[in-house]
Formats: sequence, structure tokens, C-alpha cells
Amino acid sequence: MKQKTKKNPLTSFLLHLHPKTIDSRATQFNRTFGLGGMAALLCVLLFISGLALRFLYIPSIEGIPSIEGAYNSTQLIRNENVLSSFIRNIHYWSANALIVISILHLIRVFYTVSIVKKRGENWIYGIILLFIILASSFTGYLLPMDQLAYWAITITSNLLGYFPLIGPEISRFMLGGTDAIDSNTLLQFYTWHTGMLPLLLIGFISIHFWLIRKSKGIALPINENNHKIPTNPELVYKELVTALALTLSLVLLAMLVDAPLLSEANPLESPNPAKAPWYFMGYQELLIHLHPVFALIILPTIVLLFILGLPYLRYKPINTGQWFNSVKNRKITIISAIFSITLTFSLVLINTYIISWTELLPNTRTIITSGLLSFLMFVTPVFSFLYYLKKQLETPRIELVMSLFTIIISSYFTLTLIGCLLRGEGMTLLI
Ligand code: HEM
Repeated sequence: MKQKTKKNPLTSFLLHLHPKTIDSRATQFNRTFGLGGMAALLCVLLFISGLALRFLYIPSIEGIPSIEGAYNSTQLIRNENVLSSFIRNIHYWSANALIVISILHLIRVFYTVSIVKKRGENWIYGIILLFIILASSFTGYLLPMDQLAYWAITITSNLLGYFPLIGPEISRFMLGGTDAIDSNTLLQFYTWHTGMLPLLLIGFISIHFWLIRKSKGIALPINENNHKIPTNPELVYKELVTALALTLSLVLLAMLVDAPLLSEANPLESPNPAKAPWYFMGYQELLIHLHPVFALIILPTIVLLFILGLPYLRYKPINTGQWFNSVKNRKITIISAIFSITLTFSLVLINTYIISWTELLPNTRTIITSGLLSFLMFVTPVFSFLYYLKKQLETPRIELVMSLFTIIISSYFTLTLIGCLLRGEGMTLLI
């Protein structure tokens, strides 16, 4: 009689996410760096720690939501005992790590050309997931109600207020129907953070995973000699080791570094400089240099359409699953990143210290000076660079698109670094 072997519940759960056998190449760490799995684990850690915090965090006094109640409650969680402070720290660090890991995952998926055919649909769900993650982090940012939280959200709502015509309405809507953060804003953010957004996250992650199964796992280059190996233990063990390493790093971080908590929010005393959350700092920096119509409407619309349209541009030839599509393109990608970082940094310096179109042409409308002219100062070199790649190096379309993607990502990364590290009092440049 056949003997039934006892299955480990954890590995049999992981096998529900994978087929029984997989292509041996899919287990190589440098294909995915385990980033999608890490994002999934971070979501689990966030749900568990968030659920615990739901019992500890009471943002009210005598049943009425209040800024003071939220701050006192966070202070209690931080100071009352080691465990509650540890749970808060794990939640805080996992949330920040999730943003970084999701962006790295998006970048790896794109550079391994895993966005065509059925995976294109998953790319779109991935973008939606990224927006949900950012919204979750943003709504959570306010909950401690300290100076950092209060002013970061105020700055971001002010940024939205620059939106032409309907800006003030959008900003009021975000703040829960008021002009400045108050207990209505707190209630609105708390409800989204602990109710709707986690539900949306679960829903979209489920679709994301289902589509990965439907496209038969990760994208791999076509190869006649591929051979199948059992998923357990070959892949499952690697996943468990990665999960353990990530969890241990987070535990260590949460034990060593506390999530920040400054003094209680004070609407009358703004810190100097007042900055948006780090992932929106690139945007805050952009608004220093570019007219709001360009910074808030034209540029984001073009970038969003480009990112969403990536799977639908016709690429031929294309090497799905191959890093950078070709060996030659790895070099072009690095050059594009260096070009973009240098261009963005130089334009920030030029705009601050050398030419400000608004000062040079004081009688011209600002939409032309700080809008169109500043926009063209970035776009013209970028398109000349792409034209050179196309004409001189006969770069195929997929690689040109990769170069443009690299330029956009590297430019936002540079703006974020400048905003976070190089802006001091009054948002003056420190170099
Ligand atoms: C909570 C967020 C996310 C989770 C948990 C998640 C999870 C995963 C996992 C486990 C995989 C398969 C293995 C791997 O690549 O590591 C995967 C693949 C994929 N993800 Fe995500 N992901 C998330 C966000 C995103 C984002 C932001 C994008 C991009 C817009 C994206 C697009 C894709 C695509 C297109 C694939 C298929 C890649 C391939 O076939 O090689 N995902 N995701």
C-alpha cells in the first residue's frame, strides 16, 4: 500500500501559489531577486502589526475623534511597553520598505521585459497596486498627529491646491471637507487607512497572483533545453530563506530604530523646512522649478500614459525574460541613467543660480517662462539623446523605450534625493 507522506503546512500553502514543477531557470535569484515575494511578505507583516495597532491606537478623547487623542495614544504606544513600541516600529519600517521594494519590483519586471501579452494586464494591476500602497502609506502618515505628520500632510495638500481651477476643491476633499487638518481629516484618513485601502490591497494582490499563475510563472527567455524541477524544495526553500532574512532584518531595525514621533501637532508653528513624505519629495522639488500646470497636469499625464501604455507599444524583435532585452542595452541603460541624473541635477542648479526664465522675461506669463520654457529645457536634450540612439546606434524600439523609462525614473530619483537631502531652511538649496 502507498504510504501517505505528511506535508509541511507552510510548504503546501506555498505550493498553492506555484505549479508543482517549474523551469529550473525560474529559481535563479538574479531573475527576480525575490522582490515580488518580499512585497507579499511585507503586506502580511503590515496586516498583522496593523491589526494589533488597531487595538492599541485610540484617536479620540471620550469617544470624540481628536488630534490630541491621536497624539496621546501614539505616545502611549511608544512609551508604555517594549512590545507595543516594537509593533509600531515593525509597522512603520514594513510600510517604508514596501514602497521601496514595490518600486524595485516594478523596475525589475520592466527591465526583464516581462510586460507583454498576458503580463501586460498584470502590469496595469501592478500600477494600481502601487497607487494603493502609496495611498495606504500616506493616510497612515497622519495618524500619529505629531508635527512631522501634520506638516507633511499639510504640504502635500498645499501641493494639490496648486492644481489649476479645481486645486482648492481637491485639497479640501482630501482633508475631509475642511481647509486645514482637523478631527474630520483624522477620521477620514483613519477610515481609509484601516478599512477601504487594506480591502483594496487584498483584492488587487489576489488578482495579481492569479494572473501570474495564468501566465505560467515569471517570464523566461525561449530556450529549447529548459528542464523542469520540483517546486518543492527547489524554489520553496529559497523563498523561505529570503523571507527569513527579510523578517530578521526588519525585526533588528525595529529593535534598534524607533519610528519617529515629534511634539504634538501645532497648526501655528510650522517646522522649517516643511517637507512632504519622502516619496512625494520629488514632486515638491519639481514644483519649485516648474509651473503647476506643467508639474501637476501635463507632465504627470504624459508619464502616466507612457507607463500604462508600455505593454501596448508594438515591439519587434523582443526578448521576453532577458535582462535589458540585450547585452548591448545594459550599457545604454546605464548611460541613460547617468545622462538623466546629470541633466536633472544641472537643470536644478541652473534654475536656482543662473537662469530663471521668470526673472529674464518679467513681462511674459509664468505659464510660458516657468512652464513651457523650463519644460523644454528638460525635454529637448532628452529627445535629442533618444534621436541619437535611434539614428546612430540603430537601437530597437523596446530599447529606446527602456532608455526613456530609465530617464524618467532616474530624474524622479534625483529630484527626491535633492528634496530630501539638499534642501535646508526656507527650502534653500544647501550647495
Ligand atoms: C504589493 C505589491 C506587489 C506584490 C505583492 C507583487 C507580487 C508579485 C510576485 C510574487 C510576482 C512573481 C515573482 C516576482 O516577480 O518576484 C510578481 C510578478 C509580477 N508583478 Fe508584481 N507585485 C506587487 C506589485 C507590482 C507592481 C507595482 C508592478 C508593476 C507595475 C507589478 C507587476 C508585476 C508583473 C508584470 C509581474 C509578472 C512578471 C513576470 O512574469 O516575470 N507588481 N509580482
